[in-house]
Amino acid sequence: MSKNKNYLRHLAIIMDGNGRWAKERGYIRTKGHEKGADVIRDITQYCAEHETIETVTLYAFSTENWKRPKYEVDFLMKLLDKWLKGELETYHKFGARFETVGNIEGFSPKLQETIASIKEQTAHHTNVTQILALNYGSREEIAKAATRLANRKEAITEESLGNELNTPYTDVDLMVRTSGEVRLSNFLLWQLSYTEFFFTETLWPDFTPTELEDIINQYINRNRRFGGV
Ligand code: IPE
Ligand code: IPE
Ligand code: MG
Repeated sequence: MSKNKNYLRHLAIIMDGNGRWAKERGYIRTKGHEKGADVIRDITQYCAEHETIETVTLYAFSTENWKRPKYEVDFLMKLLDKWLKGELETYHKFGARFETVGNIEGFSPKLQETIASIKEQTAHHTNVTQILALNYGSREEIAKAATRLANRKEAITEESLGNELNTPYTDVDLMVRTSGEVRLSNFLLWQLSYTEFFFTETLWPDFTPTELEDIINQYINRNRRFGGV
């Protein structure tokens, strides 16, 4: 049996538990989103400094999250706009490139402009690519990719469909979900086919680079067989 340790290139995280974190403290849910946004910075720094991580994909807003009360959705949109503008300096400092996956067209023109501007200004950074999944739903991503191939009368193969997805087609090595929920919630179904999963009870606002490092150390020693022996 090979003693090779697992390589970690692409990390994905479902950042869950902001609302419960706030509720436990007697705050309104939106306070949890504010605290959670700060954690993204710490985790991005960790990934930028990590030797092998090239991409970190973070689930920030799902196509299902529009079901939330209007005040919470409005708050999240405003927070994202303000947060991104404030993060520019951080992206430069960490050498992090900002990218997104999901239907950005579903957002206000102002927010779309902010997103495009931060992407453009960080496009040259190479330490890590941070992909925020925004208005993202995996089933929609796959259906739209298949439709584009069909419209172009191209064969639908694992390779062509994988390349047609909006997420650059690199398999995710490690997926972490915080808050104790054990489900995917329509996140990266295709890209997670052979990913190692970790679920932690920690609520996202309490998640730290130290806990991430501990998870990565466990990942490194897992036996990834990919169907072999
Ligand atoms: C995750 O935290 C953040 C988003 C989905 C935007 P939640 O808001 O889902 O927090 P809980 O799951 O209600 O605690
Ligand atoms: C998934 O969390 C989406 C994000 C973290 C952005 P949710 O809290 O929305 O998912 P469910 O409702 O627990 O499935
Ligand atoms: Mg949740």
